[in-house]
Amino acid sequence: MKVLITGGAGFIGSNFIRHFISAHPGYEVVNLDKLTYAGNFENLTDIEALSNYTFVRGDVCDRQLIDSLKFDAIIHFAAESHVDRSIIDASPFLQTNVIGTQVLLEAARKRGCRMLHVSTDEVYGSIETGLFTEESPVMPNSPYAASKASSDLLARAFHETYGVDVVITRCSNNYGPYQFPEKLMPLVIANAIGSKAVPVYGDGMNIRDWIYVIDHCRAVDIVFHKGRSGDVYNIGGKNEQRNIDIVKKLLVEVARKGGMPEERLLDLILFVKDRPGHDRRYAIDPSKMERELCWGPETGFDDGIAKTVEWYLANRGWWQRIISGEYQSYYEMQYGKRAGS
Ligand code: NAD
Ligand code: TYD
Repeated sequence: MKVLITGGAGFIGSNFIRHFISAHPGYEVVNLDKLTYAGNFENLTDIEALSNYTFVRGDVCDRQLIDSLKFDAIIHFAAESHVDRSIIDASPFLQTNVIGTQVLLEAARKRGCRMLHVSTDEVYGSIETGLFTEESPVMPNSPYAASKASSDLLARAFHETYGVDVVITRCSNNYGPYQFPEKLMPLVIANAIGSKAVPVYGDGMNIRDWIYVIDHCRAVDIVFHKGRSGDVYNIGGKNEQRNIDIVKKLLVEVARKGGMPEERLLDLILFVKDRPGHDRRYAIDPSKMERELCWGPETGFDDGIAKTVEWYLANRGWWQRIISGEYQSYYEMQYGKRAGS
């Protein structure tokens, strides 16, 4: 089987390809990635020489290119993925996340092949109490979440209308190696190592449900092979954490593993103006995955945090090269005028 994986040079996509190729050495993988600011060719240098792996630089919106590729199934990770960027400009989000998904759905329809669409728990919006189930209403609040909800519903519509073999996953916040240092965890770790202020939005009491990236990758693999056509599968780590607690935990871990004074790192915390429309709480009920597909998260939070901090300490070159480049001007735009509150 030849599987087209989109967005494989990004955070989850690169972790997924590494997992997928080792779990299914008989498969061929074509990684289609535009290499936007978030895509990094370095993420997969360890597998680029494998004979069953091909990288194609290209845009998921490019119909001609997609039509020219040979594949038997699609796993679609490619997206504009950062909420704060979507608040500055939603256009690339609509283009890649909605139009790009439509192009891939058309390709799956033409070929009669399976497409796994990687969606997100953010399509559900914010929940005060209880958990998001697959039946919860889709009520996105950020332009990012709205673009993901649109693509998620388009995938459903292609299944209902044309009978395309679609499966959809909605996962909670991922963390782990290779995450771009604009997202909370890598940003905190990088700033702590560089003795820079650590920005916490609002009161720091927003809750996210964190999952170690490899547990998400295992889940996507299982849904791809065993998921019921047309179904949605919630994936989550059963691990709700307040932002401020995560920030403190990371700072303590960096101090311990990096040999830095804990008090000095904790002093870096800076409460800043809140994100507009900031979702208060995400919480996923993954019991359908557990019940029907025998999947469950395996990495405990302490273990996952320790592995993540170790990886960022051991791979400073990877994120320092990113931070020194184009990302720097984005960082200035996002935090330069965001005075402490
Ligand atoms: P990421 O931003 O790290 O990676 C996205 C990748 O997509 C990059 O390699 C980028 O170059 C590529 N890409 C962007 N636009 C493209 C285009 N037009 N054509 C081809 N490639 C393009 O994102 P991520 O965190 O790895 O997320 C991957 C997927 O998982 C996304 O669909 C996201 O919505 C979803 N998701 C992420 C999380 C999370 O916590 N990060 C949680 C749930 C779901
Ligand atoms: P993020 O990693 O951007 O993921 P998402 O918004 O998709 O959940 O942010 C995770 C949480 O951390 C979110 O509540 C916003 C908050 N946050 C901060 O407090 N400071 C920061 O610098 C960033 C990037 C995020």
